[in-house]
Amino acid sequence: MSDPAPKPTPPGPDQPVLRPHTYDGIQEYDQRLPNWWLFTLYIMMGFTLVYWVAAYQLDMFVEDGPWASAKVAGMRVPKGTAALMASSGADTQLWQWSRDPEKVASGKAAYELTCVACHAKDLSAKMAGVPLPGLPLNDKEWKYGGNPSDILKIITKGSPDVTKGMVAWETVLGPTKCAEVAAYVLSHHEPPAGLLEAAAAAGTATDTPADPGPAAK
Ligand code: HEC
Repeated sequence: MSDPAPKPTPPGPDQPVLRPHTYDGIQEYDQRLPNWWLFTLYIMMGFTLVYWVAAYQLDMFVEDGPWASAKVAGMRVPKGTAALMASSGADTQLWQWSRDPEKVASGKAAYELTCVACHAKDLSAKMAGVPLPGLPLNDKEWKYGGNPSDILKIITKGSPDVTKGMVAWETVLGPTKCAEVAAYVLSHHEPPAGLLEAAAAAGTATDTPADPGPAAK
């Protein structure tokens, strides 16, 4: 009769139980897990079950949707922007912003972070003569319309052709920054003659229109 596999070492009173196999000269303990460890596991299992029932079966917790909307509603949207997005005077106001050095500087900073890769620093959509993916923004040709609100719409909502890579920037930049970027783009263009003067006279300006200073480059 051959010897059976070596029996586990019978545990002494305070001796750890060792498993019979050996790997690389290392043996493995075969101990009962400590109670604190087991209780943690059991509590977690119980909690998982209770949470799953409460959250997913009974819908006891508020969902993301209403929670997120409440959060967004609580955010302060600058007055001028809300008015800007809603009003039919959006074009006029964007032209005003495009002559406001503060808005233009802020728009320029965002543009140089977010848009240069495709539209180039000088808005020509060319870098060292090589065409970039975007369209030129400093010429008079507008695929989607050259009104300030058209330009703002493409920036906030993206191109209707999602394959082109011009995505909706509103989610990234927020509505105010988008409007400032649009103002920066417009600062490379001329407003319709007399528009700003008429607007200033009519007092529609929500922000003091700055004197048409040098368009930021
Ligand atoms: C990944 C490249 C990419 C980035 C980044 C990008 N664009 Fe565009 N943009 C495009 C492409 C491509 C088009 C043309 C879309 C089409 O033909 O449908 C376009 C179109 C536009 C247009 C419309 C031009 C027209 O002739 O009507 C505007 C305005 C514009 N982009 C502004 C911006 C601004 C501002 C940013 C930064 C916030 C930006 N883009 C970032 C690729 C980009």
